[in-house]
Amino acid sequence: MNLKNSYLAKISSFSKGGWGNAFGRPKAFPQNLTTIMEFELKIWKQSGPEDEGRFVTYGAKGISPDSSFLEMLDTLNEQLVEKGEEPVAFDHDCREGICGMCSLVIDGVPHGISSQTTVCQLHMRHFKDKQTITIEPWRAKPIPIIKDLVVDRSAFEKIMQAGGFISVSTGCAPEAHAIPVPKDIAEKAMDAAACIGCGACVAACPNASAMLFVAAKVAHLNTLPQGQPEKDRRVLAMIKAMDEAGFGNCSNHGECAAVCPKHIKLDVIAKLNRDYALALAKKIIE
Ligand code: SF4
Ligand code: FES
Repeated sequence: MNLKNSYLAKISSFSKGGWGNAFGRPKAFPQNLTTIMEFELKIWKQSGPEDEGRFVTYGAKGISPDSSFLEMLDTLNEQLVEKGEEPVAFDHDCREGICGMCSLVIDGVPHGISSQTTVCQLHMRHFKDKQTITIEPWRAKPIPIIKDLVVDRSAFEKIMQAGGFISVSTGCAPEAHAIPVPKDIAEKAMDAAACIGCGACVAACPNASAMLFVAAKVAHLNTLPQGQPEKDRRVLAMIKAMDEAGFGNCSNHGECAAVCPKHIKLDVIAKLNRDYALALAKKIIE
């Protein structure tokens, strides 16, 4: 069974129209695409962490199919401000798929229907004109909602502060080839380093586990020669910080990897478990 099953079920309506594929990535645009689109948006509104929150329905008009999803929300907010209404709060920064700030659940799928795509890189041509779209924030206890669609991801920062670094005194910048790194090791580390810390993995996990995020960060550093001296301390500290923040354990659902926009694979979690078991055993023996 494919890991994306639960999400594919949610996006099957797109595929039935003949313009999706097995991974939810549209292979052609809808035939009835117009130059200007409009949408009915059911957006989660919550005035603050203590507010119960509720869905509010908005109409977004005059949207270019080439707008990104965030540009569509910008247009909606301009229309709301013109009417004297409060705009919708949402997170963003680079809008290039590299910072990990955008964090929306679209029609039940973190980062939306296109696989390996952040919300900021998702375009409105992948939706149907006049489609109703549901937009929610990440939902997990350790990353609480601050306002509307904005969540507090400082728990991720705490995990990184616990061990997501190499604390060597390097002096001036070393010559690039001073530490030879075999190609296969460099590629494994680079694949893990692609994690942008967006938190979609946590939002997708039924157990709100941050294992894919932590595993990617640990794999990145523990794979490289520069990361070896602090390998054990790093994995113990980062797992401890993850547990203290209240994230759940990995329950092997695989939803995290299915929604990850950077294609972080589940095998990093296997490596995390191996590194953790080894570090724990050494600590007990010492
Ligand atoms: S593992 Fe993927 S989904 Fe999770 S934080 Fe990193 S990039 Fe985002
Ligand atoms: S806004 Fe930076 S990844 Fe989306």
